[in-house]
Amino acid sequence: MRSAIRKRLIELFTASSQNFVSSQQICDELGCSRTAVWKHMEDLRKEGYEVEAVRRKGYRLLRKPDKISEDEILFGLDTESFGRHIYFQKEVASTQLIAHDLVNEGAPHGTLVVSDHQTNGKGRLQRAWHSPNGTGIWMSLILRPEIPLHKAPQMTLLASVAIAEAIKDQTGLRPSIKWPNDILLNGKKVVGILTELKAEADQVHAVIIGPGINVNQTADDFPDELKNVATSLRMELNDKVDRAALIQQIMSTFEKRYADYIKHGFAPIKQLWESYAMTIGQHIVARTVNGQYTGKALGINEEGVLLLETEEGIQKIYSADIEIKST
Ligand code: BTN
Repeated sequence: MRSAIRKRLIELFTASSQNFVSSQQICDELGCSRTAVWKHMEDLRKEGYEVEAVRRKGYRLLRKPDKISEDEILFGLDTESFGRHIYFQKEVASTQLIAHDLVNEGAPHGTLVVSDHQTNGKGRLQRAWHSPNGTGIWMSLILRPEIPLHKAPQMTLLASVAIAEAIKDQTGLRPSIKWPNDILLNGKKVVGILTELKAEADQVHAVIIGPGINVNQTADDFPDELKNVATSLRMELNDKVDRAALIQQIMSTFEKRYADYIKHGFAPIKQLWESYAMTIGQHIVARTVNGQYTGKALGINEEGVLLLETEEGIQKIYSADIEIKST
């Protein structure tokens, strides 16, 4: 099926918000016969769309296939800049690497790189990120905030708040955030975010926010070493999640929260972050490049830095791997 026809049909179904669209209306919109409409519906079904046909009522779209592409993300996207420029590739080494190149080429604020499969996904602290084909959301968002370097960690916390909120709104699940930006469901990691910077002296040129979201994996899709620590939205929900719709929701929520941040500063984001945080008040071990610290997590300060009450006094943690100790 030509993509323009598919796009128009999906637009018609979306506008009807799950009601039937009559054959006559589709004929009029596409300028074709009823037989041609029937054939288009067959083509949609072959592409994985579930279409119900009822005599004298017409057709209704029950479910879209879980497919991501530039079109699927752009259609229905309600943002001004987030996700408006999309680079989609079926397979990449890492969306972060592509985003870095795009930053150097001058890509605008809000540019989004998305892939179905990463062969060399990058995690925090030089780790690898398992990014199997067709199941998760592997993406990198380029932002160009005019902020000094020391405020860059705030962007990481802003990202985790926006993604947690979008997941809650889209699925009804209640995610929590482990400092700085792991998103967990029932104690298992469902989202990891890698934030990278292009900066000079004290000026940030670009922030690349790279979330890896486990969406439609089953337990069998995780390698043995991740089975006890990772989960997916599908496993928690017992249902598949439309990845394109979730990307749209994330772009929309992220753009709103970013606007709040630019207008009102970090305070409203800090408050939201704290409402999702599962680290505060807990006894934790923070492994940093300068050594290991143990203590009680008191919260984050106005810059997004974690405050840890240790036996030697309050320690500021800028970047670390956190382990929550059972008390
Ligand atoms: C973590 O270690 O928790 C962060 C994982 C971040 C993975 C994502 S997947 C999309 C983007 N591209 C990458 O190569 N990494 C990030």
